[in-house]
Amino acid sequence: VIDIRKLYAQTGAFTFDPGFTSTAACESALTYIDGDEGVLLHRGYSIEELSEQSSFMEVAYLLTEGELPSREQLEKFTYTITRHTMVHEQLAQFFRGFRRDAHPMAIMCGVVGALSAFYHDSTDINDPKQREIASHRLIAKMPTIAAMAYKYSVGQPFMYPDNSLSYTGNFLRMTFGVPAEPYVVNPVVERALDRIFILHADHEQNASTSTVRLAGSSGANPFACIAAGIACLWGPAHGGANEAALNMLREIGTPDRIAHYIERAKDKNDPFRLMGFGHRVYKNYDPRATVMQKTVREVLTALNVNDPIFEVALQLEEMALSDSYFIEKKLFPNVDFYSGIILSAIGFPTSMFTALFALARTVGWIAQWIEMISDPEQKIGRPRQLYTGPAMRPYVPLSAR
Ligand code: ACO
Repeated sequence: VIDIRKLYAQTGAFTFDPGFTSTAACESALTYIDGDEGVLLHRGYSIEELSEQSSFMEVAYLLTEGELPSREQLEKFTYTITRHTMVHEQLAQFFRGFRRDAHPMAIMCGVVGALSAFYHDSTDINDPKQREIASHRLIAKMPTIAAMAYKYSVGQPFMYPDNSLSYTGNFLRMTFGVPAEPYVVNPVVERALDRIFILHADHEQNASTSTVRLAGSSGANPFACIAAGIACLWGPAHGGANEAALNMLREIGTPDRIAHYIERAKDKNDPFRLMGFGHRVYKNYDPRATVMQKTVREVLTALNVNDPIFEVALQLEEMALSDSYFIEKKLFPNVDFYSGIILSAIGFPTSMFTALFALARTVGWIAQWIEMISDPEQKIGRPRQLYTGPAMRPYVPLSAR
């Protein structure tokens, strides 16, 4: 690691690094990735152990507070989050202002940004107490907002949170329950979704997290920063990849068509890429994809769903991983390759997939934002550029052009 700040101060020299492939923009104690070995740790704990033994609420505490909670701390934290699950009643008007066929991510960008217009008592970023309340509010309200976006799209009434349920159980009920009928949370689905949330909770300085940090570096309030993160996550190269991966698998449809799509992905004249494959940092199997693949089996068995797409995914992975193009470029399945199959089996439409990612990643965004704001050395983010435009030239009046 070369700290080039001194060189810049002495000579004015700076690095040119489009896409930040080799530039660290901050120090962080949250998440460690070894892309060559396929290792992912949160505060030192492996993603395999967390997804197997922990819960999303516990991981949220770990990321935001720094250590695993005691039983008492976890109960208190869960109680606090639960208390904040309701959204201001007037927010429902926002939803009703959107077209019914609006993408849930379009709605989430708008509604989450609008939270800063409702919760004025948690927008002062210089007050640690207000920062804490804002972080609890965001973690608690994201499931409510995501579920409302879904309910609005299918024309069903919004469901108020039921705080006797777990974080994830409550989200399932707000999404799939209807007011007139009791909703029984399926424990296998609840556990699988909670695990998906854990797998998406944080991933160091990815594009959306960097966006949250950059927005926050100017002093913008946390609700606005998270809305910026949601906007960035929406793209198909990032959070939109799970939706794109499932659409691709459905388009492939049957195993006999896989070879054709692999050939297309290798063809440099064809913009097609295998969605859910490849990663900026992992040059080995994404450890989250391993957990995800195992979870697909559990969910399909528990729900008695026989989705032929799972077989297509397994065979696609096998064929790609024995193809020299993918071997040489170190392209492996990433977290998004299998997640869509699970979410679809649970009943989520593809348009909701990225909204679920945003819900879970809010924990990481918030933890990273707090880490940044609490750093006394924190500076506004301001990348440099290599100017390639014309040199100074005289203005030409309109009459002479
Ligand atoms: N299919 C086919 N070829 C690929 C793929 C793919 N999925 N991914 C990368 N490549 C090739 C590129 O064409 C490039 O080839 P070249 O060296 O001949 O030009 C090489 O591998 C390197 O790819 P880059 O795009 O330069 O790698 P980068 O690190 O910038 O991109 C990314 C990473 C965006 C994830 C890329 O692999 C991709 O587009 N994957 C598909 C989308 C996807 O699954 N995104 C989810 C990422 S994980 C997440 O956000 C949770």
